[in-house]
Amino acid sequence: MEKLIPGLEGVPIMESQVGFIDGQKGILEYRGIPIEVLAESSTYEEVAYLLLWGKLPNREEMAKFDHDLRTHRRVKYRIIDLMKCLPETGHPMDALQAAVAALGMFYPAKIDPAEIQPGTDVLARDKHYWSIIRLIAKLPTIVAAFERMRHGDEPVRPRDDLSHAANFLWMLTEQDPDPLDARILDVCLILHAEHTMNASTFSGLVVGSTLADPYTLVASAIGALTGPLHGGANEQALRMFREIGTVENVRPYIEAKLKAKARIMGVGHRVYKVKDPRAYVLQGLAEHLFRVKGEHPLYRVAQEVERVINEHVGAKGIASNVDFYSGVVYDQLGIPIDLFTPVFAIARVAGWLAHWVEQMKNNRLFRPDQIYTGQHNLPYVRMEQRT
Ligand code: SDX
Repeated sequence: MEKLIPGLEGVPIMESQVGFIDGQKGILEYRGIPIEVLAESSTYEEVAYLLLWGKLPNREEMAKFDHDLRTHRRVKYRIIDLMKCLPETGHPMDALQAAVAALGMFYPAKIDPAEIQPGTDVLARDKHYWSIIRLIAKLPTIVAAFERMRHGDEPVRPRDDLSHAANFLWMLTEQDPDPLDARILDVCLILHAEHTMNASTFSGLVVGSTLADPYTLVASAIGALTGPLHGGANEQALRMFREIGTVENVRPYIEAKLKAKARIMGVGHRVYKVKDPRAYVLQGLAEHLFRVKGEHPLYRVAQEVERVINEHVGAKGIASNVDFYSGVVYDQLGIPIDLFTPVFAIARVAGWLAHWVEQMKNNRLFRPDQIYTGQHNLPYVRMEQRT
């Protein structure tokens, strides 16, 4: 009898060289480079290149990739018109998924099965290279456009004289972004760019394994990221801090939640059994930002939640994850709370596509098995005989 593995926990489903996690030691590397080093020294654009090609770009490679991204940020007016038809009260992740699913209709992206052979490098194929560029370059434009339009404002045209992170802040506010804010967001995008076989990457790869196009793959991954057990936790964690309100309320609130076996958002991880290395970096970013802009009013609440969690369940390997502190950083940057998960998607699109590039070199359709627990060979009971 096959052994059931709920949630495929610990089940390796493919080989990869894109990212590496050691959940016991709290290590995360992108293409072998520790995340702390990349957060300190790199940019999102450079990290996206590293993830896709498996190496840091030289000056010329970086200049071309950056130029291609900057000059493909605009979206067709029909995508804007499509989003204008969506309810303003809808969640921005749903708008993002709808727009991205439609995006591929405007560009040649469909895959001819004959073109995918063992060893195929889709990055070397113009059609797929430009799909990758358009997805990384346009997701921020789509998110910012929906944010503007749901408040009755025209979308702000992207600027190609700004970095990826700075341009996103520009499109949200139509104000030249503070360089510190742009750098803080740039590092947040680096921290969220890749994380091995998480639920959204896996979802995208299942779709990719059928040779669906990369726009459809990314739309599927966005769907998975939406859930509060995955990317949606960053928004929920800040909502929880707001609900707690004061440091004095933390202990009774958290103890009641733990007693009720409720899941505390921003805490716990399938792989990390220590504090998420990204949470440390995000905490450092938060404190840097707060020294300049003033402390977030709920930061001490967050720190007290972390202390109480550690006291009660730290020994079980349950600690803060990437979604625990990202919300107070984004909130202090003026990013609306329901855009936190779309910002996660804007970053993770590079990781999703890097795994797709790797998958197309040695693709195999995902089709797992199940353990059937139903009955067999039952009769068809006519309507008049049914109770
Ligand atoms: C992300 O996978 C990735 O890499 C994801 C991600 C990425 O970059 O792609 O890192 C991003 O999604 C981070 C996780 C964001 N989600 C949350 O913060 C939601 C809250 N977290 C939990 O729902 C939970 O920790 C999961 C879903 C993240 C992981 O849960 P598992 O591995 O399925 O573990 P489990 O639910 O089976 O819990 C194991 C034990 C249970 O205790 P027992 O019943 O065995 O006594 O740990 C406890 C749980 O009660 N537990 C928690 C908890 N998480 C686990 N208890 C309270 N609060 C929590 N958050």
